[in-house]
Amino acid sequence: MAPSLSLLSLIVFSLSLQLLPSSSYSVPVDTFVYGGCTQQRYNPTSPYESNLNSLLGSLVNSATFSAYNNLTVLSSSQSAVAYGLYQCRGDLAMQDCASCVARAVSRAGELCPGACGGAVQLDGCFVKYDNVAFVGVEDKSVVLRKCGSHSAGYDPEAVLVGLAGSGGYFRVGGSGRLKGVAQCTGDLSAAECQDCVGEAVRRLRSDCAASDYGDMFLGKCYARFSTGGAHGGYYNSKAHGRSDNEGEKTFAIIIGLLAGVALLIIFLAFLRRICEGQGIFQFFFFFSLLYLDFK
Ligand SMILES: *[C@@H]1O[C@H](CO)[C@@H](O)[C@H](O)[C@H]1NC(C)=O
Repeated sequence: MAPSLSLLSLIVFSLSLQLLPSSSYSVPVDTFVYGGCTQQRYNPTSPYESNLNSLLGSLVNSATFSAYNNLTVLSSSQSAVAYGLYQCRGDLAMQDCASCVARAVSRAGELCPGACGGAVQLDGCFVKYDNVAFVGVEDKSVVLRKCGSHSAGYDPEAVLVGLAGSGGYFRVGGSGRLKGVAQCTGDLSAAECQDCVGEAVRRLRSDCAASDYGDMFLGKCYARFSTGGAHGGYYNSKAHGRSDNEGEKTFAIIIGLLAGVALLIIFLAFLRRICEGQGIFQFFFFFSLLYLDFK
C-alpha cells in the first residue's frame, strides 16, 4: 500500500505543478541591467522639471497599450523641451510592459536625481529621456558589455548567426543549450535595426567567444545569449513555459504534500471501513479503479 500511496502523491504533485498559473513566467522582467545619467543638470522648480515629470508619467501610461513609444513635451523655451522613449522586450504581455516601464522610470529617478537625461535598461524594457533630441537617431556606442567565462567551451556562433540574420525588432533564437535574444528600439528604421544588431553580434562574436553568456548593449539595440541558467532565461518562449521560480516550486511542493496527506487520510478512513468488516469486495474495487486510472 505504501508504494501506491507515494505514487498517488507523486501524481497529485505533478498535477499541481501543471495547474500553476502559466501566465506568471519566471522571466526576470524587472532585473536591472544598466543605468546612466547625463552630466548636465536642471534647476529644481525649472520648467524642465515639470515637463520631465509629465513626460515620464506619459511614458508609463503609454506602456499600458504599446510596446514602444516616443514622446516630446514641447515648451516655448528650447531648454525646457523633454524628449523620451521606452521600448519593451517584444515578448512581454502589456501589463508586464507597463509595470516594467514604471519600474524603470522610478529606477531612473533614484539613479539620476536632478540630471537632465537618463537611461535605464531592465531585462524587460528600456527607458531613456533627455532634453536633447535623440529619438530616431541610431546609436551604436557600447553601453554595456559583459561576457561569461571564456573557458565554458560553448560555441555561440549558430545563435549569433540566427540573431544577425534578417528579422524584426525583436529576435530570439537558440542552438543547443544556448539561447539568444536581440531587440531594437522602435525609433530605428528596419535597416538601422539590422545594422545595429549586426554590430552587437559582431562584438559578441569577437569579445565573448566560448562564453556561456554574452551581453552587448548598444545605445539603441542589444544582443545577448546565455545558457538560460542562473544568468539567462531572459526571454519568454513557449518551450520555456515551465516556471523556474523557486517560490512557485515551493508552493507547488506544499500543495502536493497537502494533497498527499489528504489522500492518505481518506485512504486510511477507507481502510478502517474495510477492517470494520465492510467487505473485501470494496477493497478490490478500489484497487481496480486505481489500476484503470493510473496504469
Ligand atoms: C514618434 O512618435 C510619433 C507619434 O506617435 C510617431 O508618429 C513617430 O513616428 C515617432 N518617431 C519615431 C522616430 O519613432
